[in-house]
Amino acid sequence: MRRTHTCGALRADHQGEAVLLQGWVHRRRDLGGLIFLDLRDRDGMTQVVVEPAAGDAAFATASSLRNEWVVEIEGAVRLRPEGQRSDRLATGDVEVVAGRVAVLSEARTPPFPLDDAAGKAGAVNEDLRLRHRYLDLRRPDAMAPLLVRHAVIREIWRYLDEHGFVQVETPLLTRSTPEGARDYVVPARGQPGHVYALPQSPQLFKQMLMMGGVDRYFQVARCFRDEDLRADRQPDFTQLDIEMAFVEQDDVLALNEGLMAAVVHGATGRGVATPFPRIGYREALDRFGSDKPDVRFGLELTVLDELFAATQVRAFRSALDAGGAVRGLRVPAELAAHLSRKAIEGLEAVAKRHGAAGLAWLRRTEDGFGGPLAKALSPDEQAGLLAASPDVGDLWLVVADRWVTACTALGAVRLHLRDTLEVPCDAQALAFLWVVDFPLLEQDADTGAWTYMHHPFTRPRDEDLAWLESDPGRVRAWAYDLVLNGSEIGGGSLRIHREDVQHRMFAALGFTAEEARRRFGFFLDALAYGTPPHGGIAWGLDRLVMLLAGARSLRDVIAFPKNQRGFDPLTDAPAAAEPGQLEELGLTLLRQTDAAGEPTLGEGANAEGARRVADATEPTLGEGANAEGVRRVSFAGEAGEGDT
Ligand code: AMO
Repeated sequence: MRRTHTCGALRADHQGEAVLLQGWVHRRRDLGGLIFLDLRDRDGMTQVVVEPAAGDAAFATASSLRNEWVVEIEGAVRLRPEGQRSDRLATGDVEVVAGRVAVLSEARTPPFPLDDAAGKAGAVNEDLRLRHRYLDLRRPDAMAPLLVRHAVIREIWRYLDEHGFVQVETPLLTRSTPEGARDYVVPARGQPGHVYALPQSPQLFKQMLMMGGVDRYFQVARCFRDEDLRADRQPDFTQLDIEMAFVEQDDVLALNEGLMAAVVHGATGRGVATPFPRIGYREALDRFGSDKPDVRFGLELTVLDELFAATQVRAFRSALDAGGAVRGLRVPAELAAHLSRKAIEGLEAVAKRHGAAGLAWLRRTEDGFGGPLAKALSPDEQAGLLAASPDVGDLWLVVADRWVTACTALGAVRLHLRDTLEVPCDAQALAFLWVVDFPLLEQDADTGAWTYMHHPFTRPRDEDLAWLESDPGRVRAWAYDLVLNGSEIGGGSLRIHREDVQHRMFAALGFTAEEARRRFGFFLDALAYGTPPHGGIAWGLDRLVMLLAGARSLRDVIAFPKNQRGFDPLTDAPAAAEPGQLEELGLTLLRQTDAAGEPTLGEGANAEGARRVADATEPTLGEGANAEGVRRVSFAGEAGEGDT
């Protein structure tokens, strides 16, 4: 290496040493006879002083430097004069007196300032930062999450290797693995009309590795899901994927607790208490209104079914008669004092966005209750609520609906209160927990169809198996989610390891035997050759790193992320196909849009495209076959039956 030190390395005890530094000019200050340079690299920043004694050439070069030029400095380390030392920089006690200054490369003026203040609180348009992500990364605040990510993956490798796990890569060009999203598909040039799917997860391959005797597998695996984007989702994300043979649920949970404690400690120095608390799915919804509860603060929900069992409040009555539930959230007086009637209307809007028909409320007064619901209550109902309302000013928010809706709508209100009122909540805490005892299947409210809660390979409890056909909602799964501070950072299960059970599961999901064979025949065959009981998990690695690094969004912990619209402003992906590419793949466009989503290809152009392909492929592919090819591509791009 030409450089003797990085820009973050020099300290007082380097005084007098000759050094060679290379880095970016962060800032140049020209004080007439003296030039100060802040020289920056990943490791930090060092102050360089160019004095006239350095000679005309060095001084002239230093005078010409601009921000972000890459330079090489040779000089000597000296202590900064008293009063000019800086606590802000690790190198703040020293400076390098330059003897030679060389320009390694010049730079255009950056399109945005590269100090951390500029990156904070959206001071610079995010698309602009992403378009020049290589510049953005020069900010220490932008680099830091990548270093946490690296440390997390290093600890994962170390710990799992010590525990007998084998790292195996699985294919990216493959068949659909249903995880509830749409597939990204890759057309196969050699077989027009046929597509590969990018994996939504390595689920089937890791199970087949267990069948192959790998016994303990892990992979830091890229996964691809075409789904509605949110702050905690990327179309192209990373899992820590784990699978273990000959295990029960407790084995998988214990291994993950040890691994998580080692990872958090190795990457951040923080301790994590194990084992993690476990909470049943029903209890999580009843108490927190969420299957990924944030337990760092109170405001728990109250089950009001019994209190309202004989109610004449019309909305409550009809919900209960339809088998639904009544859930309440008591906001203590000191918080409720901040909630005006208008603010409560805002809370109702939150509940409605989460499926509730409305949000009833009442406020405890000196002599009973006020608010729209108060008058409708029977004396018993009033008395019951009064007993549960210790203070004048307490506010009750109540939802009656299907059980899931009543819970989750109030759960959303609970989180909204966390974010808008000063609810005491330890922002530094790492509140890990397991959610366990999930149902195997859930019923679509509109169609009545049964769908899986995790994926179709999750193992039902043996003692519930008898209900799979007659009462599917009653079957519990061996499934678990890992939650940190209200974020689902992992999910897994024990797997079906018997072919007959897998057939029954596909049937319960509404697959015909033919369809199950067409889509998963290879996997059903594999199951039939002697499969060990097995189970595993996948962590959302980006989400974990985001929380550990204190980052604001997943985009901050991914080197080259897509924006909120799934678009990459750096490379302009996705981009229109190159001329000839579609023809080569045997594809015609039914519709084309520009970057803003506006149609750019009308009927006429489409017909023209179709004609050209038909001409090009005439000898082997006629009109009918071509139409079939188009249909097949779009079918593979849709979530199949039972996939949503
Ligand atoms: P699941 O679908 O729950 O399980 O995914 C595991 C974890 O991956 C994270 N995750 C995401 N992170 C960022 N962007 C996304 N679009 C995204 N989707 C999911 C979440 C989630 O908990 N094969 C099973 C695992 C198993 O059963 O072993 C699976 O993929 O943190």
